[in-house]
Amino acid sequence: MKSLNKGTKDYFKSEGTVSKWWNPEKGTYHFYYMKELQVLDEQFIVNPEWKVLDVCTGKGRFAIYFAKKGCKVTAVDISEEMLSIAKENARKEGVSSNINFILGDAENLSNIQNDYDIVCCMEALDHLPDIEKATREMSRKIKSGGFFLFTFVPESSLYWKFYWNIIIRNPKDSGIATAYSINYILEMLRRNNLSNPNHFGIGLFFPTGPLVSRMVLHVLARFETLIKKYYTRPSYINRCAHIIGWSVKLDSEG
Ligand SMILES: C[S@@+](CC[C@H](N)C(=O)[O-])C[C@H]1O[C@@H](n2cnc3c(N)ncnc32)[C@H](O)[C@@H]1O
Repeated sequence: MKSLNKGTKDYFKSEGTVSKWWNPEKGTYHFYYMKELQVLDEQFIVNPEWKVLDVCTGKGRFAIYFAKKGCKVTAVDISEEMLSIAKENARKEGVSSNINFILGDAENLSNIQNDYDIVCCMEALDHLPDIEKATREMSRKIKSGGFFLFTFVPESSLYWKFYWNIIIRNPKDSGIATAYSINYILEMLRRNNLSNPNHFGIGLFFPTGPLVSRMVLHVLARFETLIKKYYTRPSYINRCAHIIGWSVKLDSEG
């Protein structure tokens, strides 16, 4: 199993870290991260009666998405700073009364009930030092027949193979993010009583790296958005910078 630095959690707990670079709701990368919501809008039917647990909520993007559809949401994050931004965002969107914010660690959800219709972990599996433990915890929180909704960076993506490891030169597993093979994720889901997922690829091009590469990739990613919001063919999905998917929680007999 892969592991991140021991200091990863301390990094996320500290003020002025993730809050500075994670701005999917607005800013340069907004157009890119909107594609995740488009996949949900087009491929996933949300029941307003659902109870949702959003683990690693960040600034509350998915908690607010589900709360706006009428769902009752519990939103967990390890960073007090991110939670207070999420609370403010929920207030601005008029959905505060539908979201309960909790400071907590994805690897230990013992204080949370086990009866959720959806547990989601978006743009965050890659940041968890013990992904196995966190997935076990999250799976336990889902009702039989409920959904586990997730994103991750596949290690076969152009983004990880080329931009992250060669242009950015961030040695694998040493930073605050890592990538996984699709097979590893599928096996981990299976071990945790979660079905083979429906999954989609987002972005062959992701704007990243030093300024020139970022600018070029930005243009390519913008162009890509015009012609293709997301990918459904496995050969393309494997090469995308992000995969979004959902599994169904199976009965223990599975
Ligand atoms: C890249 S952001 C993604 C936020 C949100 N899910 C989204 O898609 O907009 C990752 C979030 O995970 C949180 N996080 C990192 N490690 C965590 C952990 N062990 N437990 C709970 N939250 C964690 C960070 O504080 C940060 O807010």
